[in-house]
Amino acid sequence: MKVDSDVPHRIVFLYRCSLNDAMTSTCIIGAGYVGLTYAAGLASKNLKVNLVDVNTATIACINKGTCPIDEPGLEKALKDGVKRGLIHGHAILDLVFAESDVFFVCVGTYCDDAGNINLAQVRSVAQAIRDCFKMHPDAGYKVICVKSTVICGTTDSVLLPVIEESGMKAGKDFGVAMSPEFLKEGSALDDILNPDKIVVGGIDQRSIDAVKNVLKAFLKDSDQHKLIETDVRTAELIKYAQNSFLATKISFINEMARFAELFGVNISMVAKAMGMDSRISPKFLNAGPGFGGSCFPKDVKALYSAGKKAGLDPLLLKAVLDVNERQKRHVLELLQQHRQVKGLAVAVLGLAFKANTGDTRESVCRAVIPGLLALGASRVKVHDPSAFAREEVKKDFPPDERLTYHDTIAEAIKGSGACIILTEWDEYKRLKFSEFTTMAGNPCIVDSRRILDRKAFEKSKVQLVILGESESRDFKP
Ligand code: UDX
Repeated sequence: MKVDSDVPHRIVFLYRCSLNDAMTSTCIIGAGYVGLTYAAGLASKNLKVNLVDVNTATIACINKGTCPIDEPGLEKALKDGVKRGLIHGHAILDLVFAESDVFFVCVGTYCDDAGNINLAQVRSVAQAIRDCFKMHPDAGYKVICVKSTVICGTTDSVLLPVIEESGMKAGKDFGVAMSPEFLKEGSALDDILNPDKIVVGGIDQRSIDAVKNVLKAFLKDSDQHKLIETDVRTAELIKYAQNSFLATKISFINEMARFAELFGVNISMVAKAMGMDSRISPKFLNAGPGFGGSCFPKDVKALYSAGKKAGLDPLLLKAVLDVNERQKRHVLELLQQHRQVKGLAVAVLGLAFKANTGDTRESVCRAVIPGLLALGASRVKVHDPSAFAREEVKKDFPPDERLTYHDTIAEAIKGSGACIILTEWDEYKRLKFSEFTTMAGNPCIVDSRRILDRKAFEKSKVQLVILGESESRDFKP
């Protein structure tokens, strides 16, 4: 099949994954973060995966066995899969469509600042499948399963009708399903291979069974209870509900951290005690500079905005987002409480939205860097161990005489009067007070990730300000 040049973004290459002789053949559409990881995961289970993407550079990478994204273990799994002949790229849509039964849609869904989700790529995939059905009316029954995070109703009211334009009927000629992914950056492959649960929503049992047949490769026989069968809209909402809940936990503990600062209490002890209650769990109770990344901010905004448009007033989601924005500003306030920023040289350690990733999307540094410049800092000296992260942030905040990017921590902190730690990289956790002796004057460190040991700084001339703690006991009820 030729590439449809009228629709440049349309995904016309489909991936063929012949699972094994006994299983359904599978096609993954979209070789981004999710698609690549699923392909590598299936290959690691000895299942055959062919990958294709509109991005020819990505295809070239995959076929050479190199991974286009930086994710622990993924390159090795891809390389192994390619070497063993289980993964390779194909641009033969006709063949792929006819021979594949289950199609996983793993394309990006972006969100604007107002929370409006951009479904252009999902629509493109639906159109590509519609066109395939038109060209291959005898291709047989197919199941289209959405893995991309989409707002409730997208699968059955956006994707499904476009495919039906082919003349095929959902529930008869093709099935439709939705199976959200729960993978985290930094442990994506591990999350797929050891899932807490697999959710499969379908328009009918036949659709659910086809998807289950593929994804059960990731579950041991004794873990079959981890498979949740439901309808498409429930599956869509599960993803948003889960991410919104985790984001709520973070905003909650960040609000408690503000109380801890006010009352002269250490938030870690509060979180530890709370987390020991099995109804709460200790996870996602780390106070910090607010959540970032490609999912939480986007997903909470998208759900909030969908509810708002429909006349709901999602008060809690609004508060979660507001607390998160306030927390980003609070990092600067912590410095301002102890130093005048005007005329001060400030080192900023950490650009990635969390450790072990080069991803800087929605990272707090994107608020802190311009904030420091606006407050009149004489220099802002930036470091991140990830060169990728540095390059990404440079695109939006180009270096100049006041804003400089550094390859080493030592360079960034040398001569600075203050230092703000924004990411919990191991490199920063290991920092000792002796390494801060090159700072200027009476230096102040703001540790927004709570990774430095206060005791180790007690005898030094460096003032350590830790988010969620305060030495002041001035508050009286
Ligand atoms: C998240 C979800 O965890 C995952 O299930 C979903 O599929 C995608 O979104 P990810 O964005 O990779 O994954 O990062 P995650 O580890 O969840 O952290 C998100 C943000 O919350 C980061 O900025 C992190 O620093 C912050 N966070 C997390 C906290 O501030 N405190 C915590 O206790 C946990």
